[in-house]
Formats: sequence, structure tokens, C-alpha cells
Amino acid sequence: MTSPIRLLGTLAACVALAVAIWLQYSPVNAGGQQAAAAKATEARVEKAAYGKMKDGTAIDLYTLKNAKGMVTRIITYGGIVTELHTADRAGKVADVVLGFKTLEPYLGDHPYFGAIIGRVGNRIAKGRFTLHGKAYALATNNGANHLHGGLKGFDKVVWKAEAVKAADGAALKLTYLSRDGEEGYPGNLSVTVVYTLTNQNELRIDYAATTDKATPVNLTNHSYFNLAGEGTGDILGHELMLAADRFTPVESTLIPTGELKAVAGTPMDFTKAMTIGSRIDKVPLAPPGGYDHNYVLTGGGGSLALAARVREPRSGRVMEVHTTEPGVQLYTGNFLDGSLKGKRGTAYAKHSGFCLETQHFPDSVNHPNFPSTILEPGRTYRTTTEYRFSSQ
Ligand code: GLA
Repeated sequence: MTSPIRLLGTLAACVALAVAIWLQYSPVNAGGQQAAAAKATEARVEKAAYGKMKDGTAIDLYTLKNAKGMVTRIITYGGIVTELHTADRAGKVADVVLGFKTLEPYLGDHPYFGAIIGRVGNRIAKGRFTLHGKAYALATNNGANHLHGGLKGFDKVVWKAEAVKAADGAALKLTYLSRDGEEGYPGNLSVTVVYTLTNQNELRIDYAATTDKATPVNLTNHSYFNLAGEGTGDILGHELMLAADRFTPVESTLIPTGELKAVAGTPMDFTKAMTIGSRIDKVPLAPPGGYDHNYVLTGGGGSLALAARVREPRSGRVMEVHTTEPGVQLYTGNFLDGSLKGKRGTAYAKHSGFCLETQHFPDSVNHPNFPSTILEPGRTYRTTTEYRFSSQ
């Protein structure tokens, strides 16, 4: 039996619901709704806690959303791009960068997934160079060589982060002070990296640095892409065009010989779009083989120019890379061996992602014929790289 009090309560609830519905759709609230709609189409940055380092340092996760609804996520540890969601030709969105769900695996051993690389990206032979008459010995972390900044490069430090205003999207500014002597490098280097997710569906990265002693600098980002979606298989079917007719051949430990060699007539040639896998078995590289080479960009560096265009035929997702750098490292995830599990729980096997690391050439400090990586005090290092996403 329903008591009169209960009936009254139900009635009151019904009235309240009706009023709420009326309020929602009445002209009284139209302004509020318009404001909400406008908000949804405004680029924005949100901050959340991501986890803690062993020493208790808090790591934050920043979500950048542009006016079209595209989303990328970046953490303060290593400035790592943990997620990047782009639409295919049917509008279906997928996360196209390799990485982990939580902080813990990022703190462990991993091959630079999504990270900012510095002070000097790529290899320096034996970790040695001479600058203004002084010999320097850097940390060696790749056999006898120095790779990607050393034992604790910029991929393993905690960056200060701040959302900043951008005319054309959502932007996050990261800063880090690399102390004089860090990993063997000379000078206090003050570094700023601004990630902007523009309203044209580009992830733009602006790098800047100043120093108080002459030092080599070569900053990049080490995102691994799979335009079919991370963890969905290998990238051998992606079509790649590189705006480069020469590359820098390497010896067995991946140190350039110093030569700038024509790609024409070799498996290195991507001047016309070709699938990454079409000739990968014929690339002369020490095991595990694959591409792990610096290409000499035709643009020559200095101003923003097209470096690469990649298209994944099944989804139609396209990524163009534009950069002010003179080189780009094509790395086809050769060392991925299935031991790391990604965000959707899939093991990342060989070639499950590719990197296009825009950069100055490897081991430039030991090759006077390569464009210089030396930053002098009083000067500002500035480079820009854009990853532009679309579908076709
Ligand atoms: C760079 C190097 C590769 C490899 C990866 C990380 O791209 O060129 O040889 O070390 O980083 O595994």
C-alpha cells in the first residue's frame, strides 16, 4: 500500500524533474547553454595528478584540447607525450602514439617513448668532443657512445609546467635548468619547450635554450607513432615520403662516417612515397636491422619546411612533419622486442611504431662538415617542429 506521504513525495519529485527539464530548455537558460557550447569549442589545458616518483616528487598530467576537440596528453616527467588522439577518414579517433597508461613503467627502462630528448639528441662517438680547445667526456650509455643526453637525459628529469596563452590553440610551457657539468656537458643550460595543440590539428613543439658557457645542444622529441592506433600491429604498411635526397651513413655502432650519401637507387630512398616495409630487409644496418638513420633534409634547416609525410592506408590518417631542423632520424622501432606492454595491453613488438626525430645530425660535435650544434652564451637556441594531422 502506498502511504499518502510517499505519494506526496513522488509527486514533489515529478514536479522538480519537470521544472528542471523546463529550466534546461527555456529561453531563461539560453545564455548559459550558449556559454557552455562556446566553452566546449574553446581550446583548453587541464591539469591532473599522474603519480609520484620514488622520492615523493609529484608528476602532473596535462590534457591539451583544441577547438576541434583533438586531445593530447603530456606529463611533467620527461615532458613525455603520453597520448595523441587523431581522427581517421571516417572520423574515428585513435591514440596514435606508443606509451604507457601509468607513471611506473615510464620510470623504468623504456626506449624514450614520447620524451623530450637533450641536452644532445642522438649519438656522440665515445662521448667525447673538444670545444674551444677544451676536451669533454660525457656519460656513455650506449655501448661506448653517448646517446640522447646520457644516463639521465632530459627524458628522465621533471620539468616545470605552466599552461600558457596561445593565439591558435592550447599550449603548455615546460622549463628545465640543466646544470653545468650535468652528464659531462659544459654550462648551465636553461631550456624551454612549448607544446601547442593548434586548432588546425597540429602538435607544434617550440624549443628554446640559453647557456652561460659554450655547449652543444640538439633537442628533439622521441614520440613513436602508429597511425593505425598504438598497439594495433606494425608500421610496415605506412606510406612514407621524406624530403631528403641524402642521408648520413653510419658504422656498426651507428656513428656517422661523415659522408653525406645520395639515397637514389638505394633502400634509403623515400623521396617518393613508399611503404616503410617495402625495402626494410635490404637496409644495411647491424642487427636487429631496419631504419635508424639521419636524413639530410632538402630544406636545409633554418626555416619551417616539410620534412616528412606519412599515410596509413587503411585508416587514411596522415601526419606531416615540418621542421626548422636540417635533419630527421627515421627510426623504425627496431629494438622493440615485445617486452613492453602499451596502453591497451598489447606487447610492442619490433616495428610497432616509427619515430621521426627532427634534429641536427648525429655526432655533429666531431664532424666539422655537419651543421654546428654549438650554442654560445648570449645567443638563443630556437627550433620548431610541427606534426600536422589530417586524413585522406
Ligand atoms: C634512437 C636511436 C636508436 C635507439 C632508439 C631508442 O632513435 O637512434 O638507435 O637507440 O633511439 O631505442
